[in-house]
Amino acid sequence: MTEFLLEFWRSLYFLISPYAANAIPPLVKGKTPIDGGKNFLDGKRILGDGKTWEGLVAGTLFGTFCGGVAWLFYNYLNAIAKRYGFTLPYISPFNAFLLSIGALFGDMLGSFIKRRLSMERGAPAPLLDQLDFIFGAFAVGMFITDVNLFTFLWCAIITPIVHIFANLLAYVCRIKEVPW
Ligand code: CTP
Ligand code: MG
Repeated sequence: MTEFLLEFWRSLYFLISPYAANAIPPLVKGKTPIDGGKNFLDGKRILGDGKTWEGLVAGTLFGTFCGGVAWLFYNYLNAIAKRYGFTLPYISPFNAFLLSIGALFGDMLGSFIKRRLSMERGAPAPLLDQLDFIFGAFAVGMFITDVNLFTFLWCAIITPIVHIFANLLAYVCRIKEVPW
């Protein structure tokens, strides 16, 4: 049980790059669709206008930057973790770059699935919308750092909650029209 609870802190550290990467594209509001406006075999858009090169590039850069800053503090934070009997997952700046790409590809895969299900760009897909980038980050993370099923579970629990509060904040700051 303590192992599971301690995993919470490891998840938070792991999430820095994926969150940073995923938070930026909605602020950038890019114009160049990654799918080039093309349709898939089913005649529907491959990804849709909500997935742009500008968002992908800016998200990758910011995710790498924030992961790099977290890496600078790794020894300090890990010393604290060690006092409580655990170690933080080590993520180099290059691996932060890979995690950011993983997160953004997960987000793209989410859109790909939504389009195949005939859902318009922006149509709500509860849990898929919130967790697609987490799947992407983990698909990469499991190969490059020390994460496990508990880390994933915590990320899947924390993220929808953070999402609700982030959207509320964006509404209060007038970045979003609706508070959800
Ligand atoms: N965005 C972007 N480039 C990306 C990802 C996101 O420009 N690679 C921007 C788009 O303006 C998008 C917004 O961030 O509308 C919110 O992202 P998301 O909720 O993932 O996209 P949706 O518009 O909801 O589209 P989808 O139905 O495909 O999820
Ligand atoms: Mg969406």
